[in-house]
Amino acid sequence: MEIAATAIDKVLTDLVSQPDPRWKTLAADRQRKQIQAELNSSAPKDGMMRVMTRMQFQEAPDLVEIDWESELATFEQIKYPQYYLQPFHSVLGGYLSERAAVGNRVAMEAILENAHPRKSLGVREEIAQLFPEDARQILDLGAGIGDDAAAIARRLPNATVTAWEASPFMIIVGRHYHKALPNLRRQHGLAEKTALPDNSVDALNMTYLLHECPDEIKQLILAECWRILSPGGLLVVTDALPGDLYSYRGFFEPYKEQWLKIDPDKLLREAGFIKLKAYQFAYSTWTRVGSKPAAA
Ligand SMILES: C[S@@+](CC[C@H](N)C(=O)[O-])C[C@H]1O[C@@H](n2cnc3c(N)ncnc32)[C@H](O)[C@@H]1O
Repeated sequence: MEIAATAIDKVLTDLVSQPDPRWKTLAADRQRKQIQAELNSSAPKDGMMRVMTRMQFQEAPDLVEIDWESELATFEQIKYPQYYLQPFHSVLGGYLSERAAVGNRVAMEAILENAHPRKSLGVREEIAQLFPEDARQILDLGAGIGDDAAAIARRLPNATVTAWEASPFMIIVGRHYHKALPNLRRQHGLAEKTALPDNSVDALNMTYLLHECPDEIKQLILAECWRILSPGGLLVVTDALPGDLYSYRGFFEPYKEQWLKIDPDKLLREAGFIKLKAYQFAYSTWTRVGSKPAAA
């Protein structure tokens, strides 16, 4: 008797048979093994399956017009640290792939589908409300396609909002999503090494960035935030609740164990931020707002 493939078989086959990433330097064989090991783990995969199922029902962007070769050719190569060159979320190539970038909005909408009435875009609008009206230079670090940055730019038309992102793929897709926002800029680079002058930014945002980084890089990013923020400047951080992140087994998350130990208040306080305020815009996330001391 022939047994019909189950939905999970189809998802697993799709995840292990992805084509080689466009950037051949990415050690595709090693990454395939990492994805396979995560998929073969005995942990339940129901969280991942729910997200993958919901992803099929999200409005998908029409991105066929992207000419990847010519758009990628406009970026300067940056030297990527090893921690970044991993198959995040079981996508071959990780963030340096079309699949991660094209799927970014769809995945976030699926993950936050029942967590906020307006899904991920609703959470982003709530985050945008936290930024002060008088901020002029705002940075969104690890911005992905820039949905937070766009929400902030729409709310504060007098501010310049820069979506700072290490993946050219994300920047390219983001440009196609947010074409008509004159105060939204994009910058290709690492969050821990912005090379911006001290005290030059009024407010900073980071959403779902820190859990993707090893502990020492989390510290470096927060130190960089403190350095570039002007005295009295605001830092807004949103990320996954540790247990929720851990439940998405099947999606390769290299730092999920480290994330289980995270204490958002301690993290920000130890980095020098004060006047911490806590928000929760979706049941699966936490948000903290902190300030750099005015006299710093
Ligand atoms: C989970 S995604 C979140 C994207 C976006 N902030 C959002 O809320 O949808 C993490 C993003 O951070 C970027 N990223 C990871 N490490 C980075 C680093 N060190 N510097 C800059 N961007 C980084 C990745 O390329 C990816 O686009």
